[in-house]
Amino acid sequence: MSRVIVVTSGKGGVGKSTCTASIGTALAEAGNRVLLIDADVGLNNLDVLIGVNDKVIYDMADVIDGRCRIKQALVTSDEVPNLFIMPSQHAYTSEDIGMKNFRILIDRLREGFDFILIDCPAGIERGFHRAVAPATEAIVVTTPHISSLRDADKVLGILAGYKLDSINLVVNRIRGDMVLSGEMMGADEIGKLLRSRPIGVVPEDDNIHVYSELGRLSSSDYKARRAFNCIADNIISGRRRIYDPTVEFRGVVGRIKMMIKRA
Ligand SMILES: Nc1ncnc2c1ncn2[C@@H]1O[C@H](COP(=O)(O)OP(=O)(O)OP(=O)(O)O)[C@@H](O)[C@H]1O
Ligand SMILES: [Mg+2]
Repeated sequence: MSRVIVVTSGKGGVGKSTCTASIGTALAEAGNRVLLIDADVGLNNLDVLIGVNDKVIYDMADVIDGRCRIKQALVTSDEVPNLFIMPSQHAYTSEDIGMKNFRILIDRLREGFDFILIDCPAGIERGFHRAVAPATEAIVVTTPHISSLRDADKVLGILAGYKLDSINLVVNRIRGDMVLSGEMMGADEIGKLLRSRPIGVVPEDDNIHVYSELGRLSSSDYKARRAFNCIADNIISGRRRIYDPTVEFRGVVGRIKMMIKRA
């Protein structure tokens, strides 16, 4: 039976879909059968990030309404074997997929995969609870910014009321140079503040934007991708090997890099 991990945040735009797509890619590259589910109903982000939007014929609503079989709605990645996507429905509003139907769908999917990652919509309303209800584990994504931290704190509190095997924190968009200069909180401080030890840290990296636009997050080696590989490793092994975003700004060369960034 698969581990079902919901990727959530409370605040919008902090990197949930990016984390879902990138961690899912890394888990699949490590040899696991991985399914990504877009629970951000009506907004099809994941299929665009993975670059399979042209291949989408059926979606989640078609499966739930019995217009197609599960296998027909699963879209495979061209680049990463073992990576599958169940697109969110396009023609409906969020109200059309009920909590019970979503849970039944996930239950039906659990046998075929090692991991199911659910990309949660922003907010803590109905869509949030629908995405969390079938999960066995949760990842809360936050950035080091105050509005995101406040929402992550709220979400961690709500998740504590669910029976989850684990609730883990990912700190996204960290800038190593700003952490070293004391202008941004580091992952340890954020973990203490939220009383949750991070399972991963992802640096701010312009490559995310570029490869997301191209639908090719797995196509090259860049620092955020290395950080996502660490997170996938930690999820698989239960270890806590955390990417250090400050390393590139240490030593003589690092200090020069930092001065150039600041200039
Ligand atoms: N580590 C990063 N470095 C640079 N840009 C990033 C990083 N993580 C995410 N982004 C960018 O931030 C934007 C928002 O990311 P994303 O869509 O994954 O957020 P989200 O939480 O899913 O948003 P929503 O709440 O709207 O669903 C995107 O343009 C993405 O490319
Ligand atoms: Mg999203």
